[in-house]
Amino acid sequence: MKKTIAIDGPAGAGKSTVASELAARLGYLYVDTGAMYRAVTLFLILKGVDIQNRKLVQELLDEVEIELTEEGRVFLNGKEVTREIRTPLVDQMVSPVAALKEVRRFLRTKQRNLALSRPSVTEGRDIGTVILPDADLKIFLTASPEIRARRRWLQLKERGQKIDYKLVLRNILERDYIDSNRSEAPLKMPEGALLIDSSFLSKEQVVDLIYNLVRQ
Ligand code: CDP
Ligand code: CDP
Repeated sequence: MKKTIAIDGPAGAGKSTVASELAARLGYLYVDTGAMYRAVTLFLILKGVDIQNRKLVQELLDEVEIELTEEGRVFLNGKEVTREIRTPLVDQMVSPVAALKEVRRFLRTKQRNLALSRPSVTEGRDIGTVILPDADLKIFLTASPEIRARRRWLQLKERGQKIDYKLVLRNILERDYIDSNRSEAPLKMPEGALLIDSSFLSKEQVVDLIYNLVRQ
């Protein structure tokens, strides 16, 4: 049985959905590292910080405390922000914030410690490359940009946020570009990872596929 599972890939590929269902089925901890980057982003937005001011960003990070619950709720300094971290403003700001080396350094140790505290399924952009390079199983989950944007658009609609599909696609393409081209821990296929293109697979099919690999 494999104990540390790393899932990376671009926005809307199905990482969160698949990782949380897989973790529930295995009785493993689910670690959503993107939620942590989103919480830091929300914190900096609320503080009104210019993120070019790296010294200030570094100082303010000392004030940040993030907690993820088993059910996927997110707390920032004791206050629940599960919904607030998924607004269009955070979607727009999160990739520039996640490109800052101060922010990555701040979250790296927390994420690694959390992922190694129990058998876990951890998902993000640099899990198999930086956070858990020695993971027992590494997956790179992707799908075409149009399919990923449609999934995200539907997800937002279900949550009562009606946003133009073209804007969702543009945000996804912009984040893919920034995440893949930054100098610190860029999004790329980790060495030894298995590529799964979920464009024409249901989430159940993806969960089954990875579940069988974990048990091999
Ligand atoms: O769910 P979605 O794919 O939209 O995004 P997310 O997983 O919540 O991640 C939001 C953003 O955080 C990404 O676009 C990356 O900029 C950043 N991120 C990262 O840099 N490294 C990670 N391990 C996870 C997320
Ligand atoms: O975390 P990431 O941004 O990679 O994706 P997500 O937040 O899990 O969003 C994926 C959305 O697409 C969810 O609404 C899923 O129900 C849906 N979906 C999927 O995850 N996997 C498929 N193979 C098909 C649809």
